Amino acid sequence: MLKHMFASILVFGIANASLSTQAANHVNEGAAIIRYDTIHHPVIGKNGMVSSQRMLASKIGADILRQGGNAVDAAVATGIALAVTLPRAGNLGGGGFMLIHLAKQSKTIAIDYREMAPKKAHRDMFLDGDGNVDNRKAQFSHQSSGVPGTVAGLSHALEKYGTMSWKQVVAPAIEIAEQGILVSYDLSENLKSRHAWLTANSATKKAYYKKNGVPYEPGEILVQPDLAWSLKRLAAHGPSEFYQGEIAKKIVADMQANGGLISFEDLASYRVAEREAITTSYRGYTVASMPPTSSGGIHIAQMLNILEHFPLKQMGAGSADATHLLSEVMKLAYADRAEHLGDPDHFNVPVKGLTSKAYAKQLANNISLSKAMASKDIKPGNPAPYESPDTTHFSVMDSQGNAVSNTYTLNFSYGSGIVIPGTGILMNNEMDDFSSKPGVPNAFGLVGGEANAIAPTKRPLSSMTPTMIFKDDKPYVVTGSPGGSRIITTVLQVLINVMDHEMNIAAAVNAPRVHHQWLPDQLELEPGYSPDTIKLLKAKGQNVKSGKTMGSVQSIMYKNGLFYGASDPRRPDAGTVAVQ
Ligand code: DON
Repeated sequence: MLKHMFASILVFGIANASLSTQAANHVNEGAAIIRYDTIHHPVIGKNGMVSSQRMLASKIGADILRQGGNAVDAAVATGIALAVTLPRAGNLGGGGFMLIHLAKQSKTIAIDYREMAPKKAHRDMFLDGDGNVDNRKAQFSHQSSGVPGTVAGLSHALEKYGTMSWKQVVAPAIEIAEQGILVSYDLSENLKSRHAWLTANSATKKAYYKKNGVPYEPGEILVQPDLAWSLKRLAAHGPSEFYQGEIAKKIVADMQANGGLISFEDLASYRVAEREAITTSYRGYTVASMPPTSSGGIHIAQMLNILEHFPLKQMGAGSADATHLLSEVMKLAYADRAEHLGDPDHFNVPVKGLTSKAYAKQLANNISLSKAMASKDIKPGNPAPYESPDTTHFSVMDSQGNAVSNTYTLNFSYGSGIVIPGTGILMNNEMDDFSSKPGVPNAFGLVGGEANAIAPTKRPLSSMTPTMIFKDDKPYVVTGSPGGSRIITTVLQVLINVMDHEMNIAAAVNAPRVHHQWLPDQLELEPGYSPDTIKLLKAKGQNVKSGKTMGSVQSIMYKNGLFYGASDPRRPDAGTVAVQ
């Protein structure tokens, strides 16, 4: 019997081998658009693409491209639509970062529309009488909100680099806010799981629950009339409506009634900052990413510069050797983050040093491929709690070679949980991204010091990392992710999966991820790592912890005249839409 089985397996094996030889003779796999040697397949299109965490928002962006809009027009329409379709992270009351590549000028622009601390904010505002951080105040109060930058950032991008009018790109969002969006299982469960918290504020309860706070069931329609009112006012009166008009009045009234700090003056003086993108070379590619006030670009560049000294490709994707190396590189970068990163308008961030090839070489020399460094030997600090899973990223490319990579957020899912009455606008709790007390970790377990202390008009340090890879000076990959402290490491792994491991964009996004942030000293692994690899990692001294999933990457690759896109399977209802 056994002998018989063995014989048939052998025959099957031989038959297969001869089939694949045949295939090799007749099919040039290298030139194929669809390759059957990969498990994961991207969405493909010829005339542009939008990838976001909500299919409906991606469709709205793709429609704008079809109407002749460029990547910036489509990105702004997608961003505003996400405020309706993904209330936990899409927003008008938050802030973020946008990287734009303009094909004609061959120029990449970094737009910082991060929230700013109100003028009345001060260093110790979240400390209680005993000098401890009051997390409720820092995360869930009216004081937890920074002055929102989203409306200013998106409208700035549109005005300077788009081709359509503000009215045109806001219109689709008004329609879906008025007519309603289909409540998915994800949205329904998400709102149910936060019922007690989100119904504590009456405007939030009214915005996201039925009468008397009854949750929506999957398949029902969520209409957002107050948000539609805000969007219509924005369309009719322009973005200044948010900072100086009726919306501003409502924001300030709610702040004054609840001990919040944001004033008319704060809103009127909010400014977007255009900054120089961080760039580095990596094995023949160029990578561009976000400069401070985000820490993302600096540490992407720093980690790639270190990784360049090791044969990552030969180690193999997901191998114990490659994973150990990533862990070591991540620890070094996050130790530097805690010390050196903050708002560059308030603190001298050593950008050149941190991203220099020479510094990376010195750090690379400290890495052993067989033994993990203990975090305490890199720098002492405190262990950290877990994260809440939101923020959102979208990527857009158009047929003229323009590209947009945008990550924006309310910080936590649903931000501070506070909707400004009458507006449907959820406010961020981005003030918690400051270091309320040097050395004490924030909600993402990130420690910081003087560089990221609270000060009036300062922007809190971010990890958001909208990024592009360039090949021969043309955008090749556009990517980014949510994930709090895990954003930078998530993006890094997508980049090396493409540049080192030569994965297609879907495989690069889907592959299991790891994360180390120096403190706590633990290497988190997503589901999908084999027990054998985990054993090998432990043998190298890694403190392995099996964790939850990380990030929600929305990516596009442009190759041989086609767009390939992938939405992360880790979050439902995301979608990549191609313009054919
Ligand atoms: O700017 C930052 O780094 C954080 N406020 C991002 C928060 C985040 O990604 C939450 N979710 N995953």
